[in-house]
Amino acid sequence: MKNIDELIKNNRTSIKPNWQELRFLETPRKQGKPRPTLYKQAKEDAVIIRLINEFPNIKHKTLTECIKTRRSLRQYSNVPFTFEELSYVMWETSRIDYHTDSATFRTIPTGGATNAMETYVMINNVEGMNPGVYHYIQDKHILALIDEEDSIQDRTNKALSQQLRGAAIVLILTAVPYRSEYKYSFTAHKMIAMEAGHSGQNASLVAENLDAGAVCLAAYNQLLLDELLKIDGVDEFATYAIPMGKK
Ligand SMILES: Cc1cc2nc3c(=O)[nH]c(=O)nc-3n(C[C@H](O)[C@H](O)[C@H](O)COP(=O)(O)O)c2cc1C
Repeated sequence: MKNIDELIKNNRTSIKPNWQELRFLETPRKQGKPRPTLYKQAKEDAVIIRLINEFPNIKHKTLTECIKTRRSLRQYSNVPFTFEELSYVMWETSRIDYHTDSATFRTIPTGGATNAMETYVMINNVEGMNPGVYHYIQDKHILALIDEEDSIQDRTNKALSQQLRGAAIVLILTAVPYRSEYKYSFTAHKMIAMEAGHSGQNASLVAENLDAGAVCLAAYNQLLLDELLKIDGVDEFATYAIPMGKK
């Protein structure tokens, strides 16, 4: 049996790291270890879907309007997302703008531009697409198929602790912690969680612009969600799930 008081104390420590200690620590970077890759690519034999990056049919509300109307949405109509709307969500929340050898610049801020995040999307109700789970390739604006077996909706719902609720899509964010640990060691983990929050907020506001809504979920089943994405749960694991659908 875990000592809960001890667990709480340790977890608090991870969101108030002592940055002064970092200066004296032999981080993997200071040890000259190889630099981690900036972001993942698709597997060579993956089925690829090219998203679009022009959005003539998306109307544009003001930022003020989007912020004013944002509320967590947990009930969705059965109106599907169009392919353009899916493309728009991925473009605004998850793409890379540019990168150098050691820094990645995205639509969201990431700690020291280390971008310890990948994005996956579960397609549930999108015009012209079968339900499936895809990995978003950040620099190419493409989707790489992970799985589209018949049980994918049921498995997603279980992995989300029954919170799929007919959403059109579900964004699932993962952490690849070493990208940040390489430079920031024990101070990385607070920043990794915060990156997910930034992405969640972008996703929530983008949903408002589509007359849709989103809810950011932390209370999912870690094991089942990692299994759904076919990631190992150690060097990469889910940190946030964001179902999104029309009002
Ligand atoms: C980190 C985080 C985790 C959350 N996890 C869940 C969740 O697992 N299930 C859920 O229904 N809502 C979840 N929410 C949504 C909150 O319940 C919601 O933001 C809060 O009730 C305030 O409502 P509002 O978003 O409409 O302002 C989460 C929100 C945050 C920021």
